[in-house]
Amino acid sequence: MTAVLQLDSVTRAFPGGVTAVHQVDLTVHRGEFVAVVGPSGSGKSTLLHLVGLLDRPTAGTVRVAGFDTGALPDRSVSALRARAIGFVFQQFHLAPGVRALDAVADGLLYTGVARADRRTRAAETLRRVGLAERLTHRPHELSGGERQRVAIARALVKRPDVLLADEPTGNLDSVSAAGVLDLLRQSHAVGTTVVVITHDHGIAESLPRRVELRDGRIIRDTADRKAYAP
Ligand SMILES: Nc1ncnc2c1ncn2[C@@H]1O[C@H](COP(=O)(O)OP(=O)(O)OP(=O)(O)O)[C@@H](O)[C@H]1O
Ligand SMILES: [Mg+2]
Repeated sequence: MTAVLQLDSVTRAFPGGVTAVHQVDLTVHRGEFVAVVGPSGSGKSTLLHLVGLLDRPTAGTVRVAGFDTGALPDRSVSALRARAIGFVFQQFHLAPGVRALDAVADGLLYTGVARADRRTRAAETLRRVGLAERLTHRPHELSGGERQRVAIARALVKRPDVLLADEPTGNLDSVSAAGVLDLLRQSHAVGTTVVVITHDHGIAESLPRRVELRDGRIIRDTADRKAYAP
């Protein structure tokens, strides 16, 4: 099994005294589908930002696709993030006024794909998420569920090694949420490693592995029962 994400004793302390993530060890192998759960403030988003190379730890090492990211210059970290990581947020994070096709094509910026190919692949990916009829719609012309599908298409268009999703269903009704979860399952089925933060117990229980955080530490990992047994 190949480790695609590997955290060794990772800590993230913020100025002002909050240690949001405390000496976390976590390995995710290629092809896993992992739920991250835990109470509000337990460090889930902070952890996902570290894994997604949107933030750097104050101590410990974060390896992504085999690279020790702490040893890389910023430029190389950005390139690795662009190539290897797809990120989906609860609030969609779509730029206002940008059409779905362009928003998804922009997911391929900095990956070396030519502009015309970016648009072709964006259209294909939007079709895959069921939005073939919405290519020219701007965010305000889309439903919440459709916006999240655009955001997922933007993350998937580059065929990332890892898809990271921070409460992707948190702002959606149950039907849209089920659609988004289906897309995550489909990505996983074609080989993408998926890590999803969720407050939804039904979703979390349905996934093969659950990692539970409390006060910045992993208190349970279903892949590793012995280590966290009381
Ligand atoms: N930039 C920051 N500066 C200072 N403290 C921060 C910062 N970001 C997060 N924190 C603190 O770190 C802790 C963990 O926050 P985090 O956002 O990771 O929690 P979470 O588990 O994602 O919670 P939620 O379920 O509410 O999204 C919180 O106590 C938060 O206040
Ligand atoms: Mg959060």
